Amino acid sequence: MVTALFTGCGSASTSASSGGKKKIVLGFAQVGAESGWRTAETNSVKDIPKNNSDIQLRFSDGQQKQENQIKAIRSFIAQKVDVIALDPVVETGWDTVLKEAQDAKIPVIIVDRSVNASKSLYTAFLGSDMEEEGKKAAKIVIDHFGKDKPCNIAELQGTVGSSAMVGRQKGFNETIKDYTNIKIIKSESGDFTRAKGKEVMEAFLKSDGNKINCLWSHNDDMGVGAIQAIEEYGKKPGKDIFIVSVDGIKDMFQMMKDGKTNGIVECNPLLGPQLAETAKAIVNGKHVEKFVKSKESVYLPDQAAKELPNRKY
Ligand code: AHR
Repeated sequence: MVTALFTGCGSASTSASSGGKKKIVLGFAQVGAESGWRTAETNSVKDIPKNNSDIQLRFSDGQQKQENQIKAIRSFIAQKVDVIALDPVVETGWDTVLKEAQDAKIPVIIVDRSVNASKSLYTAFLGSDMEEEGKKAAKIVIDHFGKDKPCNIAELQGTVGSSAMVGRQKGFNETIKDYTNIKIIKSESGDFTRAKGKEVMEAFLKSDGNKINCLWSHNDDMGVGAIQAIEEYGKKPGKDIFIVSVDGIKDMFQMMKDGKTNGIVECNPLLGPQLAETAKAIVNGKHVEKFVKSKESVYLPDQAAKELPNRKY
């Protein structure tokens, strides 16, 4: 059964107003709640009306299913919202519904993950360069293993078909391709969740625990789950197995402070403020960049203790 969770403030009618001024109604179709990163992004988006009295938010949780997100977009179109923001669970399969929004003259902002659709079907993309994140992760591995030390990688992929998974894998693989000592010997999806990351890592260790000396996890939550699996298997994460992951959640910074992981590539989920600005600019007919890039860093163990108290997610 297809169910999408809708929440929002105000009635279902389009004309949200305060003090006689019409508010911008923004419909947000979220992926789900699969990770700490996602929770941080949801909170940042839900804070938009608190920080922008001229915006009313309608929020839908797609529960990791594209069909739910398509249903949410159609509902936003029926409600005649002013702007739709879509954080797409997967890259493909959006053309029809994006065309429906375009025909209804509702601008669409793609958020966080990109879509594989004609650029003419959406107004702007706001998010990270996932391929670049994969390249940054690979550079951390290369800096450690160099050209000679054997490196047998277990890869925990994100949600199959998501731009976060596709881009990170592509960037990583391209960067290590000339290093014959660096090999990916296991690769499977952990769907970006902690529980699945642990489960898949347990299976990897059961079959190849004696060979694996590096873990490349497409996000921190799967990495945290895998660290538990490594410890239960009797190995030392961060020492026996070199670990790199993407996101920058507090839990992973704590792991890094404790010496259990070796590199974090930041992916910024605090997109609410930039989304609000972009939505307002579009509604007010101002020029917006097609790709509004979020700002991100890379963190290594010597920065963990200093950075941990500053983490906002
Ligand atoms: O699209 C961003 C990715 O999705 C984050 O890296 C991951 O944690 C989330 O689930």
